Amino acid sequence: MIKRTHTCGELRITDAGKEVALCGWINTSRDHGGLIFIDLRDRYGITQIVFDQSTCGDFYETAKKLGYEDVIGIKGIVRKRPEDTINPNLETGEIEVVVKELEVYNESKPLPFMVTDRSTALENLRLKYRYLDLRTKEMQRNIILRHKAAQSVREYYNNNGFLEIETPFLMKSTPEGARDFLVPSRLHRGKFYALPQSPQMFKQILMIAGFDKYYQIVKCFRDEDLRSDRQPEFTQIDVEMSFVEETDVINSTEQMIKKVFKDTVGYEFTEKFPIITYEEAMRRYGTDSPDIRFGLELKEVSKLFLETDFNVFKNIINEEKGSVVGLCIPDSMELTRMEIDRTVELVKQWGGRGLAWTRFTENGFEGGIGKFISPIKDSILKTLNAKQGSILLFIGDTKYKPYELMGMLRVYIADKLKIPKSDKFKAVWVVNFPLLEWDDDEKRYKAVHHPFTAPRPEDIELLDTDPEKVRSRAYDIIINGTEIGGGSIRNHRVDVQKKVFKVLGISEEEAQEKFGFLLEALSFGAPPHGGIALGFDRLVMLLAGEDSLRDIIAFPKTKNGISPMDGSPTEVNEEQLKELGIKIVRYE
Ligand code: AMO
Repeated sequence: MIKRTHTCGELRITDAGKEVALCGWINTSRDHGGLIFIDLRDRYGITQIVFDQSTCGDFYETAKKLGYEDVIGIKGIVRKRPEDTINPNLETGEIEVVVKELEVYNESKPLPFMVTDRSTALENLRLKYRYLDLRTKEMQRNIILRHKAAQSVREYYNNNGFLEIETPFLMKSTPEGARDFLVPSRLHRGKFYALPQSPQMFKQILMIAGFDKYYQIVKCFRDEDLRSDRQPEFTQIDVEMSFVEETDVINSTEQMIKKVFKDTVGYEFTEKFPIITYEEAMRRYGTDSPDIRFGLELKEVSKLFLETDFNVFKNIINEEKGSVVGLCIPDSMELTRMEIDRTVELVKQWGGRGLAWTRFTENGFEGGIGKFISPIKDSILKTLNAKQGSILLFIGDTKYKPYELMGMLRVYIADKLKIPKSDKFKAVWVVNFPLLEWDDDEKRYKAVHHPFTAPRPEDIELLDTDPEKVRSRAYDIIINGTEIGGGSIRNHRVDVQKKVFKVLGISEEEAQEKFGFLLEALSFGAPPHGGIALGFDRLVMLLAGEDSLRDIIAFPKTKNGISPMDGSPTEVNEEQLKELGIKIVRYE
């Protein structure tokens, strides 16, 4: 084998005259009759190599037959390219290598798609031939970026006294939010391990064990419905700290995030990340993961509507105890009547009852519910900060629903009208989440984060009287409207933990059966502790500017949880099932 002396991204004009050896893939090939130019590629870059029939002898014929993605090694002499053939887009663009020796390592079959143009292939085809997809410059860039981000994270935690400790992948199945992936045990037939949805309980136990500051970049598994920002197996930056309060975890995580952005894409967050409460996030943005790079804030206008004859909203406010939320689009010229109608439809698709609108022109309110709000013109213009040309949108509904719907509309409109964003990246902490939310289907409270999150001390009493009002000690970090991570201060007192389980409708026996080991550990000297987990994939997706997790994970699953390359999940043979003591019964 020809041992490479340089990579394909390395040679410069200063190397002219040197004899070098390169190895790589044929990116492109051009036959100029007597001269063959090949772009040889590896992960470092591309170098043009030249086969000259007059000097390279018998392997010229072999060179002629070389095709896309064949793997070769060459020896040759570096020379300066003629002035008019210099390629300023290539780092090696001032030189080429005149080949003196060629070895062909592997000839590629005809390709299912061109590695040089990823856009020509549908995603399923790219996932089936993932190794080819991974050769594309986009995927090479993303995977290298991911590596850099992981190193930056490790560097931060290593430099700040955290210990990297592994936790098991085979654990007890415990209800943590999503569905577990189960693994049957051969040695204990009929019993199952579960793959961890996160190392939550283990990291808390590590604190009880006295390890003080823990981190891990770790795989988590959740059997849930997938979306572009959700994978069945994904990676977390998982952190836990002892003797801390919210601000300690928040500050440390913020420093880590700032370092990662700087190290990987050179982006500097200049300010401290703002902290807003859940309540405020919902009120101003209609979501607990707000994109604060643009305004378009929501305004509650229920009171104003009570002074109108618009009975639809008045009923919602008076009879249903709901509210009306308004949004002002400053530049209506961009939104045509047809687009407004489309927006109304969209709100209905999202589960809303409808969308009321009007336009404020030099003649006053025109169209939609204009005539109803004319009597409250001044106050509505002032509250929504509307000017001539503005379009006003209103949604009425109960609880947080009008906010949530308007929040979705806010993002949709900002996208549609290309509302300018103040910064490339903007982060915000959201705090004071409710501890519990009522699940109407199951008719019980569920933990908004997870059952180990501590209630705010001043709200503990409300656990008995008004559980929905209890706020938690949880915090989420949002960047550009994406939930990048979340964590909390935990219940380190067993009595409080038991109380939370009780409100969650988990009986004492069930708590013992499912979480007994944690409850016991909490009664053997548990320090106050808290932590956070960040979705590493989501973080890299943001850094890479991609819209799908599949573009930043080397071997992702499709939306249906399938891996087209190896074909998983697959059936297994009878023998394997027998060993596990499992018989497949198909339920309809
Ligand atoms: P949580 O469930 O909020 O918290 O997860 C933390 C972060 O992980 C990312 N994430 C995902 N990324 C890709 N695909 C998924 N299916 C997926 N699910 C979650 C998100 C999310 O913010 N143990 C707690 C953390 C703690 O309390 O310390 C936990 O797992 O970015």
